[in-house]
Amino acid sequence: MERLQKIIAESGYTSRRKAEELIKNGKVMVNGKKVTELGTKASFGDEILVEGNLIEYQEKVYYMFNKPRGVVTTTKDDKGRKTVLDFFDDEEKRIYPIGRLDYDTTGLLLLTNDGDFANLMMHPKSKIEKSYIAKIKGILDKEDVRTLKEGIKLDNKIIYPDRVKIKKINKKNNTTLINIVLHDGINHEVKRLIEKLGYEVIKLKRESFGFLMLGSLKSGEKRKLSIKDVKRLISLAKGNYEQHK
Ligand code: URA
Repeated sequence: MERLQKIIAESGYTSRRKAEELIKNGKVMVNGKKVTELGTKASFGDEILVEGNLIEYQEKVYYMFNKPRGVVTTTKDDKGRKTVLDFFDDEEKRIYPIGRLDYDTTGLLLLTNDGDFANLMMHPKSKIEKSYIAKIKGILDKEDVRTLKEGIKLDNKIIYPDRVKIKKINKKNNTTLINIVLHDGINHEVKRLIEKLGYEVIKLKRESFGFLMLGSLKSGEKRKLSIKDVKRLISLAKGNYEQHK
């Protein structure tokens, strides 16, 4: 017997926190009875309905995926565009992306059906470093790099990149390639930071997430994470979380 919110989160339906809200809001039935008490215990042998949906045990899966350009980071799209889930088999459809990469951004994206893990990875206090390669229209100079490193305000928060490095300047094409490492996870953060400097990102790729690197994973390919990788990510996030409490 386990707490109802834990069972709901383990089924991949939603996170434990959201499951608690659903219980409190009277959206959960156990064996035909509405349950609103958070301490209630149950098991997968019970008939649990959340918002009318039957909760079933689902093995946890964790993937890293190399997202191609022109794919939306959602589970479905109103405009009929290709989504990241189109790259996964039917029986894996209950997974969802952890965070978001823009339609035209490529690179490393994690997907899972573990709501608690997803929330931990996305929590601002987990401060997981993500490394990006950005191609920028225009030639960045040392002053621009210094301005970035000194911090730029986005959404009322000063964003301090962990690292910024100019990798290549192409005077002929008037472009600069930079490597920027961020840990905040704010929407469109790379593009918005570069915009604040007065330039435009024309290509963006995420190369790493924490210690996970794209490596030889080709565009559109995925691989399951090992339990060791998952545990390492959890302890990385929890370690950062404790430090910045
Ligand atoms: N920053 C962006 O601007 N876009 C992304 O897709 C990811 C980070």
